[in-house]
Amino acid sequence: MKLLILNGPNLNLLGKREPGIYGDNSFEDYLKTLQEKYKELTIEYFQSNIEGELIDKLHEVGFTFDGVILNAAAYTHTSVGIADAIKAIETPVIEVHISNVHAREEFRNKSFIAPNVKGIITGFGLQSYELALHSFF
Ligand code: DQA
Repeated sequence: MKLLILNGPNLNLLGKREPGIYGDNSFEDYLKTLQEKYKELTIEYFQSNIEGELIDKLHEVGFTFDGVILNAAAYTHTSVGIADAIKAIETPVIEVHISNVHAREEFRNKSFIAPNVKGIITGFGLQSYELALHSFF
Protein backbone atom coordinates (compact mmCIF):
# COMPACT_ATOMS: atom_id res chain seq x y z
CA MET A 1 0.00 0.00 0.00
CA LYS A 2 1.30 3.43 -1.02
CA LEU A 3 0.44 6.41 1.16
CA LEU A 4 1.54 10.04 1.14
CA ILE A 5 1.76 12.26 4.19
CA LEU A 6 1.41 15.83 2.95
CA ASN A 7 2.15 18.70 5.31
CA GLY A 8 1.39 22.34 4.67
CA PRO A 9 2.85 25.66 5.83
CA ASN A 10 4.96 26.03 8.97
CA LEU A 11 4.89 22.30 9.73
CA ASN A 12 8.59 22.17 8.77
CA LEU A 13 9.10 23.93 12.13
CA LEU A 14 7.50 21.19 14.24
CA GLY A 15 9.53 20.74 17.42
CA LYS A 16 10.48 24.42 17.44
CA ARG A 17 7.14 26.04 16.66
CA GLU A 18 4.81 26.77 19.62
CA PRO A 19 5.77 23.52 21.41
CA GLY A 20 2.95 24.03 23.94
CA ILE A 21 0.49 23.45 21.08
CA TYR A 22 2.39 21.30 18.60
CA GLY A 23 4.85 19.36 20.80
CA ASP A 24 8.63 18.96 20.98
CA ASN A 25 9.22 16.43 18.20
CA SER A 26 10.32 17.21 14.67
CA PHE A 27 8.17 15.62 11.99
CA GLU A 28 11.21 13.91 10.46
CA ASP A 29 11.86 11.99 13.72
CA TYR A 30 8.20 11.04 14.05
CA LEU A 31 8.09 9.92 10.40
CA LYS A 32 11.08 7.62 10.97
CA THR A 33 9.25 5.85 13.82
CA LEU A 34 6.11 5.50 11.67
CA GLN A 35 8.07 4.08 8.72
CA GLU A 36 9.85 1.59 11.01
CA LYS A 37 6.60 0.50 12.69
CA TYR A 38 4.71 0.07 9.39
CA LYS A 39 7.44 -1.48 7.22
CA GLU A 40 4.87 -3.21 5.04
CA LEU A 41 3.56 0.18 3.85
CA THR A 42 5.25 2.68 1.57
CA ILE A 43 4.88 5.98 3.37
CA GLU A 44 6.13 8.92 1.34
CA TYR A 45 6.37 12.43 2.77
CA PHE A 46 6.23 15.93 1.31
CA GLN A 47 6.04 19.31 3.02
CA SER A 48 5.65 22.72 1.45
CA ASN A 49 4.89 26.23 2.55
CA ILE A 50 3.55 26.99 -0.92
CA GLU A 51 -0.10 26.37 -1.78
CA GLY A 52 0.52 25.54 -5.45
CA GLU A 53 3.18 22.95 -4.58
CA LEU A 54 0.68 21.16 -2.33
CA ILE A 55 -1.84 21.18 -5.19
CA ASP A 56 0.79 19.87 -7.64
CA LYS A 57 1.63 17.02 -5.25
CA LEU A 58 -2.05 16.07 -4.92
CA HIS A 59 -2.27 15.92 -8.72
CA GLU A 60 0.96 13.88 -8.91
CA VAL A 61 -0.15 11.10 -6.54
CA GLY A 62 -3.92 11.45 -6.84
CA PHE A 63 -4.54 8.72 -9.42
CA THR A 64 -1.98 6.12 -8.29
CA PHE A 65 -1.56 6.22 -4.50
CA ASP A 66 -3.92 4.44 -2.09
CA GLY A 67 -4.30 7.36 0.26
CA VAL A 68 -3.16 10.81 1.31
CA ILE A 69 -2.93 12.00 4.91
CA LEU A 70 -3.12 15.77 4.63
CA ASN A 71 -2.38 18.40 7.22
CA ALA A 72 -3.02 21.50 5.13
CA ALA A 73 -2.25 23.61 8.24
CA ALA A 74 -3.35 27.25 7.77
CA TYR A 75 -4.51 26.53 4.19
CA THR A 76 -7.23 24.34 5.71
CA HIS A 77 -9.01 27.53 6.65
CA THR A 78 -8.45 29.48 3.43
CA SER A 79 -7.83 27.34 0.36
CA VAL A 80 -10.50 26.76 -2.26
CA GLY A 81 -7.67 25.58 -4.55
CA ILE A 82 -6.67 22.69 -2.27
CA ALA A 83 -10.35 21.81 -1.70
CA ASP A 84 -10.88 21.65 -5.49
CA ALA A 85 -7.72 19.55 -5.99
CA ILE A 86 -8.97 16.98 -3.45
CA LYS A 87 -12.26 16.81 -5.33
CA ALA A 88 -10.47 16.43 -8.65
CA ILE A 89 -8.38 13.37 -7.72
CA GLU A 90 -9.39 9.75 -7.11
CA THR A 91 -7.16 8.93 -4.13
CA PRO A 92 -8.99 9.31 -0.80
CA VAL A 93 -7.67 12.07 1.46
CA ILE A 94 -7.84 12.11 5.27
CA GLU A 95 -7.63 15.55 6.91
CA VAL A 96 -5.51 15.63 10.06
CA HIS A 97 -4.58 18.24 12.63
CA ILE A 98 -2.18 17.99 15.52
CA SER A 99 -4.17 20.38 17.71
CA ASN A 100 -7.92 20.30 18.25
CA VAL A 101 -8.87 23.05 15.80
CA HIS A 102 -12.36 23.29 17.35
CA ALA A 103 -10.93 24.20 20.75
CA ARG A 104 -8.92 27.15 19.40
CA GLU A 105 -9.67 30.47 17.66
CA GLU A 106 -12.98 30.63 15.80
CA PHE A 107 -11.29 31.01 12.37
CA ARG A 108 -9.84 27.51 12.81
CA ASN A 109 -13.35 26.01 13.06
CA LYS A 110 -13.87 26.47 9.33
CA SER A 111 -12.27 23.91 6.99
CA PHE A 112 -12.60 24.50 3.25
CA ILE A 113 -11.32 20.99 2.58
CA ALA A 114 -13.60 19.12 5.03
CA PRO A 115 -16.48 18.51 2.57
CA ASN A 116 -14.11 16.77 0.13
CA VAL A 117 -12.18 14.46 2.46
CA LYS A 118 -12.99 10.94 3.61
CA GLY A 119 -12.69 11.83 7.29
CA ILE A 120 -11.05 14.12 9.81
CA ILE A 121 -8.79 13.46 12.80
CA THR A 122 -7.97 16.43 14.99
CA GLY A 123 -6.39 16.98 18.38
CA PHE A 124 -4.31 13.88 19.10
CA GLY A 125 -0.88 15.43 18.66
CA LEU A 126 1.39 13.68 16.16
CA GLN A 127 -0.62 10.52 16.86
CA SER A 128 -3.33 12.03 14.62
CA TYR A 129 -1.22 10.86 11.64
CA GLU A 130 -1.01 7.26 12.91
CA LEU A 131 -4.75 7.18 13.58
CA ALA A 132 -5.33 8.34 10.01
CA LEU A 133 -2.96 5.62 8.75
CA HIS A 134 -5.13 3.01 10.46
CA SER A 135 -8.15 4.09 8.44
CA PHE A 136 -6.50 2.56 5.36
CA PHE A 137 -6.33 -1.02 6.68
C1 DQA B 1 -2.90 22.70 12.33
C2 DQA B 1 -4.00 23.65 12.82
C3 DQA B 1 -4.09 24.87 11.92
O1 DQA B 1 -5.13 25.73 12.37
C4 DQA B 1 -2.79 25.64 11.95
O2 DQA B 1 -2.84 26.73 11.06
C5 DQA B 1 -1.61 24.77 11.69
C6 DQA B 1 -1.57 23.41 12.21
C7 DQA B 1 -2.70 21.51 13.30
O3 DQA B 1 -2.09 20.55 12.87
O4 DQA B 1 -3.12 21.56 14.45
O5 DQA B 1 -0.61 25.25 11.12
O6 DQA B 1 -3.29 22.18 11.08
